[in-house]
Amino acid sequence: MAEFLTLTDVQVFTGYCHLGSCREFVWEGGVPAAGPSRPARFWLRGLRCIEDLEALMLRTDLYLHTKDKREYLLANFQITDITDTEKIRGVASSCRLLMEEFPEIKGIKPGENVVVSKATHLLAFRAVSALVSSAHAKTHVDPRAANEVINELVGEIIKAPNAVLNLLAIKHTDDYTFSHNINVATLAMVLGQALGLSRDQLHDLGTGALLHDLGLLRVPGRILHKEGQLTPEEFSEITRHPRLGLDLVGTSRDLSAGAREVILQHHERFQGKGYPHGQAGDRIPLLARICAVADAFDAMTSDRPFRPAFTPYQAMRAMLAQAGTQFDPEILRAFLGKLSVYPPGTQVTLQDGSPAVVLRGNAGLLIRPVVKLLKPRPGQPAVIDLARDRAHFIIGVAPHPVTPSAPPVPSVARRNSGNPQQP
Ligand SMILES: [Fe+2]
Repeated sequence: MAEFLTLTDVQVFTGYCHLGSCREFVWEGGVPAAGPSRPARFWLRGLRCIEDLEALMLRTDLYLHTKDKREYLLANFQITDITDTEKIRGVASSCRLLMEEFPEIKGIKPGENVVVSKATHLLAFRAVSALVSSAHAKTHVDPRAANEVINELVGEIIKAPNAVLNLLAIKHTDDYTFSHNINVATLAMVLGQALGLSRDQLHDLGTGALLHDLGLLRVPGRILHKEGQLTPEEFSEITRHPRLGLDLVGTSRDLSAGAREVILQHHERFQGKGYPHGQAGDRIPLLARICAVADAFDAMTSDRPFRPAFTPYQAMRAMLAQAGTQFDPEILRAFLGKLSVYPPGTQVTLQDGSPAVVLRGNAGLLIRPVVKLLKPRPGQPAVIDLARDRAHFIIGVAPHPVTPSAPPVPSVARRNSGNPQQP
């Protein structure tokens, strides 16, 4: 027997980012005959946050706050069908009333960091702030504070494997200089964990990632914050920042060789066109290749003086188009596996120009979901499983029209860098 839970006038949060409200939330509990591992179903009726649907679909946990101040956690949340936008359907592994056992969830305001605890985020913010101040004032910085922060972050990330998804909730809340370093360190460690790195490797990766762009503080601000295209001389000045960063940390024994490699080589590119060494493939240290992916994703999804932020979807799509050239494809695959390339509800264009909407993903086939044609031709099936029907494939995402000959890579400023996340 399925159990029903119905809540009305529910405020909807993902992470702690408020996404809106819905008139009615209905939870249909698991059916015992189907086995305990079968996800239970839910639907949100009258969800008033459709414009944030993409953000909603990138989360794994959903928080519901009711009028009478009860809070529920919907774990492993996934939208499966939005063909009826008035009633959005999905599945989740559990729906729990939040009690004392989740004190860290209660009381955290929307926009605050959601995965890394408040205390650790504050610690990280202070450490980065101190590093930035000393990088401005002195010739060397002491990396010990970074080590301490990373110890805390590693511990929390190991406990929270879905960190990468919720991390997006802190976007736009902090100054880029500070939040970028912390975000990249966190993203890189989450990715490193997915790739099976040891705790020591995660520590080296996180420390290097936290310090990776410190050298930018030695680049003149007029170049860093320039809104127009950089001259070749200005760009060459920026390419010095990995070496400048390494100079700043000096010969301190508190920084491992792995962390130093991340600082020096996070701008190497998989095909060998990066800097400073122009190394390619496996010759680029693994930790630096991981940091490059985290760095690109965070930079692309942040507002910069020279361009607005990409949506997570646009960033993922642009990075996918650069698998094997800029990014290590294996690392990128692991990263994208943590996210969803075409979340349900994404409007797409197929190779023959047909508009369609994504109904659900296919596990392991990130770019071949099941789609529903919005204007099926006579005799044509309305629903196509792109995993089975290999004649059809997605060439672009609405509302950005694309031509069949060109993959949809969002255009970015600073063409001379050839690198959307630069600096
Ligand atoms: Fe950099």
